[in-house]
Amino acid sequence: MTIKTGILTTGGDSPGTNAVIRAIGKAAQSQGIQVVGFQDGFSGMAINQYLKLEGGFFSGILSKGGTLLGTNRDLPFKVLVDGKAIDRTAEIVQVYKQHQLDCLLCLGGGGAQESGRALTEAGLNIVTIPVTIDNDIPLTDESIGFDTAVETAAEAIDRLHSTAISHHRIIIVELMGRETGWLTLGAGIAGGADVILIPEIPYDFNIIAEATLQRNRSGKHFSLIAVSEGAISLDNVRFFESARKASERLHAGRTEQEIASKLDMIEKKAAGDTLHLARQLENLTGLITRVTILGYVQRGGTPSARDRLLATQLGTACVKYIEQGGTGVMIGIQNGEAVPVPLSEVAGKVKPVPPDHAWLQAARQVGTCLGG
Ligand code: F6P
Repeated sequence: MTIKTGILTTGGDSPGTNAVIRAIGKAAQSQGIQVVGFQDGFSGMAINQYLKLEGGFFSGILSKGGTLLGTNRDLPFKVLVDGKAIDRTAEIVQVYKQHQLDCLLCLGGGGAQESGRALTEAGLNIVTIPVTIDNDIPLTDESIGFDTAVETAAEAIDRLHSTAISHHRIIIVELMGRETGWLTLGAGIAGGADVILIPEIPYDFNIIAEATLQRNRSGKHFSLIAVSEGAISLDNVRFFESARKASERLHAGRTEQEIASKLDMIEKKAAGDTLHLARQLENLTGLITRVTILGYVQRGGTPSARDRLLATQLGTACVKYIEQGGTGVMIGIQNGEAVPVPLSEVAGKVKPVPPDHAWLQAARQVGTCLGG
């Protein structure tokens, strides 16, 4: 009996996504497996927006950035329609049945794993592959796209270095990573950043200021600071603790409006942390400080050779797995081997940088300030 599988990409795009699609498509074709591609993630699937993937589709895409299938951040149970979140699980199940699929392959980060679990619970056969520059998916040693993003960001840090040296400035470069600091740590070490700030280690303004002043005293009149978008100061950690308590008190008897304005305040305080960091450092050190936000540059471009290799290994392993009738798993990489990991163990979880991680130890040993 011919196997038929669907495939879609979801969440932020990541270099190497097309390389996974190619690996899955070519391996599937050689086994006579039919592939249907759903466009624009789960919201596209919910309205049956699809392409029959065959023949030439899988050729010439190995090195292409982005995802040829299109993507967005909608989850099956949270599709945004006119600003409102709608549960589209039933429609997705219906489309799956309409195409008589044996399986649906979901490529993406945390959202793909969470959606995979939800659709498994809804009765579908789901296999996912970890594809995100954040590298924050548990039970896989690496996610597809991370290596390329590290390379891109490290190159940017190199470029910022020369201008920081020329102008004797502090340059703060903000990298992606709302919850974990893998990308900032990797690119920061590779780019020789003097200070690396990640969400896992709340930072102290005075420690960073002292590190940059110390560099100045030793004749190095510039500093490069790599900071994750989700990095948080100790001041803010304390502020949120007290805000949470205040909000509990407000909920205990005040009006909705008061709660909203308090929460607004919390939001304002949290936003634009990198600019706040720059201002604080200028005040504390008297050194001119500039900010560069790398943003979506980190997600674009051609995947590295390493990401293409990982994409090809995981994509082909995934096809082998579905041929054997496997379901309800993410195909991750552990010690060089592609392994199935139950979605129930991955969904809804993130993989933070452990406090004793070898990269953190190495950074400290070369004198990098970690802010806390
Ligand atoms: O792809 C993950 C990620 O890169 C995060 O690090 C970042 O916070 C987020 O995407 C932002 O992307 P978007 O604006 O597309 O939601």
